[in-house]
Amino acid sequence: MSDESAQPLNPSPLPRIAVLATGGTIAGAAPDATNTSGYRAGVVGVDQLLQAVPSLSTLARIVPEQIASVDSKDMTLALWTTLAQRINTLLATDDIDGVVVTHGTDTLEETAYLLHLTVKSDKPVVLTAAMRPASALSADGPLNLQNAVTVAAQKSARGQGVLVAFNNRIHSARDVVKTSTYAVDAFQSPEIGALGWVQDGRVEFQRGVVRAHTLATEFVIGANWPNVEVVVSYAGVSRIVVDALVAAGVRGIVVAGTGNGSIHASMQQALADAASQGVVVVRASRVGSGHVMRNGAAADDALGFVSAGSLNPYKARVLLMLALAAGGTGPVALQKIFDTY
Ligand code: SIN
Repeated sequence: MSDESAQPLNPSPLPRIAVLATGGTIAGAAPDATNTSGYRAGVVGVDQLLQAVPSLSTLARIVPEQIASVDSKDMTLALWTTLAQRINTLLATDDIDGVVVTHGTDTLEETAYLLHLTVKSDKPVVLTAAMRPASALSADGPLNLQNAVTVAAQKSARGQGVLVAFNNRIHSARDVVKTSTYAVDAFQSPEIGALGWVQDGRVEFQRGVVRAHTLATEFVIGANWPNVEVVVSYAGVSRIVVDALVAAGVRGIVVAGTGNGSIHASMQQALADAASQGVVVVRASRVGSGHVMRNGAAADDALGFVSAGSLNPYKARVLLMLALAAGGTGPVALQKIFDTY
């Protein structure tokens, strides 16, 4: 007679994690294994990515889906809409406990922040990527994927907003930025540091996420994206680009200013003129860490500008597009949004 009492009656099943592939270097292939720069991104399918990590089956029941196969430099607003809507649909069912998104590193921080603001669930959503193509010696994608699934399967990852698991660290989508063109340790959360780490199946969060995200935002993903562009201030810059954007009818301009969001006098006058015509102007910094003080390097109140705070220019653009799509108007109301998210 077998000893059935030794077996739990209802062994708890592994969590069901959807792995949504969008392309990137993690799905890249080069002509030979020592080539880590001359490759094509986004050519390896999700099934092949998963086959390279057989240990995933001990962590979760994986539900794979190929959403796209793009080099993330070519990410589109339409694909953002598709991805966010698909994640919301999946997470609204009881069948899926979490989502992992494989993505290119180049615009990962923008997609991650977009999802952080528009996913309507507290279930884990974890982005990951790779700096070396799948065909490379010491490809970093398989371990990053294993770690991303490990995090997505954790109860402690619920309610933390969208996360990025990369090179053993767990970052908040709001804070993370790409800081290296080639190193496998390519992502940092400047000033504030990672949320925690994942190693050998163990996940530890060392701090929480303070700013509002996911269920606590007013943003709903849609298909209508207001036109918002980014300009850069530098020595000798003219007003030509700003004037051209205004003439083209943009709704908003984010300026990657010098230092604390300071702007060359020529460009600042063009931006002030733009703001007086109803174009929203957001001051961010090209520096890469720190924050932009309201009424610090420019008189925001007088000029009608908004300060991006600690968001980099590209994330500030994401937030401004969502805020405008949600009906946000005027520098005072928009500043409140930037101070909240
Ligand atoms: C991409 O962003 O799709 C290519 C570069 C990378 O993933 O590292």
